[in-house]
Amino acid sequence: MKGIVFTEFLEMVEEKFGFVTADAIVQDADLPSGGIYTAVGTYPHAEIVALVVQLSQKTSIPIPSLLQAFGQHLFPKFVQGYGGFFQNVTDPFVFLSSLENYIHVEVKKLYPDAELPSFDSHFPDEKTLVMEYRSARGMADFALGLLEGCLTHFQDPSTITREDLAPNGSHTRFVLTRP
Ligand code: HEM
Repeated sequence: MKGIVFTEFLEMVEEKFGFVTADAIVQDADLPSGGIYTAVGTYPHAEIVALVVQLSQKTSIPIPSLLQAFGQHLFPKFVQGYGGFFQNVTDPFVFLSSLENYIHVEVKKLYPDAELPSFDSHFPDEKTLVMEYRSARGMADFALGLLEGCLTHFQDPSTITREDLAPNGSHTRFVLTRP
């Protein structure tokens, strides 16, 4: 997993729970990297899982809620860091339907070792976008937070429903509906 995910996660933990908690989860997660991340480095996916598990134990907040909050936190950072993807885009459905064949493709060019999910998207009608998420890393809760962050960014009142198609967060159908 790319270092940017870790640096942003630890920044969110510091912001929401303070430095002491951020430091404690890094110590207690017993990480091969020692918890020293650079934005362009690549680290085992298991480390983000270990950090989230520690944070959940320390805060008593369930893991899915923490992953969702992290997605909400990360989306505006993507807007800041990758402004090019947002030029001339005013519609979140247009943006999201380009995720699989444009945005994550460009991300993969930037970071060839990025481990990205797949999204199968289609419009059953003009008010509805269906996005089917698949990933061996099972980060559907994180995906939901990113989708919510995206709607917030575009100030879009659409609603999101989710249907888990596998028990471990590895296959989930999201349905976004315009009012
Ligand atoms: C400008 C927009 C975006 C950029 C630059 C971007 C970039 C990235 C990067 C760098 C990673 C980490 C890959 C790794 O660590 O190896 C990632 C992972 C991920 N991205 Fe995106 N992303 C964007 C938008 C989105 C959106 C809108 C979603 C919507 C659900 C999304 C879903 C995910 C998920 C769920 C993962 C975790 C990996 C997995 O599930 O297997 N991304 N993305």
